[in-house]
Amino acid sequence: MRQLYIAGNWKMNLVPSQAAKYASELAAAAKDAKVKVMIAPTYVCLPAVVEAVKGSNIIVAAQNVNDHEKGAYTGEISCDMLKDIGVKTVILGHSERRQYYGETNEFINKKVLFALQNGMDIDLCVGETLEEREGGRLEQVLADQINIGLDGVTEEQMAHVTIAYEPVWAIGTGKTATPADANSAHEYIRGLIAKKFGKAVAEKQIIQYGGSVKPSNVKELMACEHIDGALVGGASLTLEQFLPIINC
Ligand code: 13P
Repeated sequence: MRQLYIAGNWKMNLVPSQAAKYASELAAAAKDAKVKVMIAPTYVCLPAVVEAVKGSNIIVAAQNVNDHEKGAYTGEISCDMLKDIGVKTVILGHSERRQYYGETNEFINKKVLFALQNGMDIDLCVGETLEEREGGRLEQVLADQINIGLDGVTEEQMAHVTIAYEPVWAIGTGKTATPADANSAHEYIRGLIAKKFGKAVAEKQIIQYGGSVKPSNVKELMACEHIDGALVGGASLTLEQFLPIINC
């Protein structure tokens, strides 16, 4: 049995004081949650949020990390910096980083390898654009994102890898993939993992769904065989919406 993993990607929302207040309310409200819970605030909110959820089971993650140990990389944040403040999980390859900041599969792979070698857990995002889906390229796009993104990762390291399938056309648009479409993409991804790392790894692999997940659609999605959790954007920003998702 794979344990459900519900994550909130706060993206570029909430200032530190709001983030800390919300995180402490969430920690109290979700203390009996049956699922694994993660929140990913912006870098400047991380110290306050780590402090706010101290003693709870909530995992605090960063939304990105650099692929070098340290040095002249203006504006960047390293794994050591995150670990020093108690953050050991990071989202990598989000479609917004691919789309707006030109991150390629090869570049994301460098971050994946560096973060794993540095003892971090990663949440690797994959997913197709509408154009790619309508052009019949869904499987090729996912295969490249998985095969290149996880190139050089070992079977043992896969225990520290979560995958989030986020169809780009469903992010922030209110459009959700139907549970059947999402499940079949997840099944395909699990097959790719089986080919690359073996059946046992694939069976254990947590694959989250992301893209307009909300209290009204979460149950149906989580009921699907290959969907093991959610990476939630907009609906993770308030307790009113995120708590029912966690308690799904
Ligand atoms: P929304 O839930 O706002 O569609 O965002 C999904 C997402 O991109 C999470 O990483």
